[in-house]
Amino acid sequence: MSGHGSPIPMTARKSGPLRGRAEVPGDKSISHRSLILGALAVGETNVTGLLEGQDVLDTATAMRAFGAEVVRHAPGSWSVHGVGVGGFAEPAKVIDCGNSGTGVRLIMGAMATSPITATFTGDASLNRRPMGRVTDPLALFGAVAHGRQGGRLPMTVVGAKEPVPVTYTVPMPSAQVKSAVLLAGLNAPGQTVVIEKEPTRDHSERMLRGFGADLRVEDLPEGRVITLMGQPELRPQTVAVPRDPSSAAFPVCAALIVEGSDILVPGVSQNPTRNGLYTTLVEMGADIEFLNPREEGGEPVADLRVRYSALKGIEVPQERAASMIDEFPVLSVVAACAEGRTVMRGVTELRVKESDRIDAMARGLEACGVRIEEEEDVLIVHGMGAGNVPGGATCKTHIDHRIAMSFLVLGLAARKPVSVDDGSPIATSFPAFEGLMAGLGGAIGRANG
Ligand code: S3P
Repeated sequence: MSGHGSPIPMTARKSGPLRGRAEVPGDKSISHRSLILGALAVGETNVTGLLEGQDVLDTATAMRAFGAEVVRHAPGSWSVHGVGVGGFAEPAKVIDCGNSGTGVRLIMGAMATSPITATFTGDASLNRRPMGRVTDPLALFGAVAHGRQGGRLPMTVVGAKEPVPVTYTVPMPSAQVKSAVLLAGLNAPGQTVVIEKEPTRDHSERMLRGFGADLRVEDLPEGRVITLMGQPELRPQTVAVPRDPSSAAFPVCAALIVEGSDILVPGVSQNPTRNGLYTTLVEMGADIEFLNPREEGGEPVADLRVRYSALKGIEVPQERAASMIDEFPVLSVVAACAEGRTVMRGVTELRVKESDRIDAMARGLEACGVRIEEEEDVLIVHGMGAGNVPGGATCKTHIDHRIAMSFLVLGLAARKPVSVDDGSPIATSFPAFEGLMAGLGGAIGRANG
């Protein structure tokens, strides 16, 4: 899986109306954090709705290697018996985080202020991604990292024996970097301060507070200033993981571009630091109803009713990018099916995700007959109108789950089938994708051609 096994070619074909209920899996960001914070609490944390994708399973394995007891009781229902802040044991083996940037970066943060050494690796995609963005601030606490050139995995992190608290301004919009610094700050005496110039997903802040940490967030002229008091005793929690808005994006976008569709996607997180895609789709003319708004697991959620819509291209404001960073690939598919151009600016972070997502989407869409303009941090898609995208290509997924799912969504609406060279990475975040889309009436299968 995720580049370790053999590739799984997949094909999507033009489909009739999508109908029914799409129950998408638990939120990936919150799932990773519930295992890591559970491992850092004293006592037993219970989690329901945990995403059982490979990324999260790799984090569960890692938490066991650091000494926590992690048990699966039923589908999505897990417990974590934590060792307390500063209580991590030194792992006996290399920690393999598979495809997961979130997993490896958060775990590095969580161990960096304990007097232990750990070696991290991942699949071919993760081993290409930059880790310096995390190890630079961790060095300020006193941790030392030895990796490959360019700060790549495999990498050994020697945790600080006598950590000092830090004040750090995150140089790029990154919730992973922010979270790594906060997790490291847990075991440093005194106040650790993280400043972010642009707000990013705030699950770490919400959950750290929920686990009993003393954490303050202020909106000041220099940005969002997060102050954490070190060395708390974290209290175990019961965490109900809401459904993932980034996974919901795939059936939602499919319904918008497949004629006659009308689906319900229940219980999707509407956290304002995550819902930029939904705001954008509504601006494009999408018929989405946000029904039964409520709070679940400390997050705002709603049931989404989504109907096929005639969409128009728009300019996505740059300041919205962080709140929809994982959704640009599928937005570019929707944009191809809209009338007029869609301009996405400030998207340079997409170049260091599981793949260079700007390049992957641009090349695949071009192969499907869509006109693209691309700069370092801009992607412009020239929409062709629903039903007019030619398709008929095999797109490369570069070990990237979201690229694979995006092109399969396109294939449901394009004139000719769209194939992907390898759908196996889908299992990292959305193992039930194929069955869920088939249940709605989407023609997605494992054979080529
Ligand atoms: C995540 C943060 C984002 C996002 C990733 C999950 C998280 O990454 O792309 O899928 O859970 O903190 P960056 O921090 O690199 O923006």
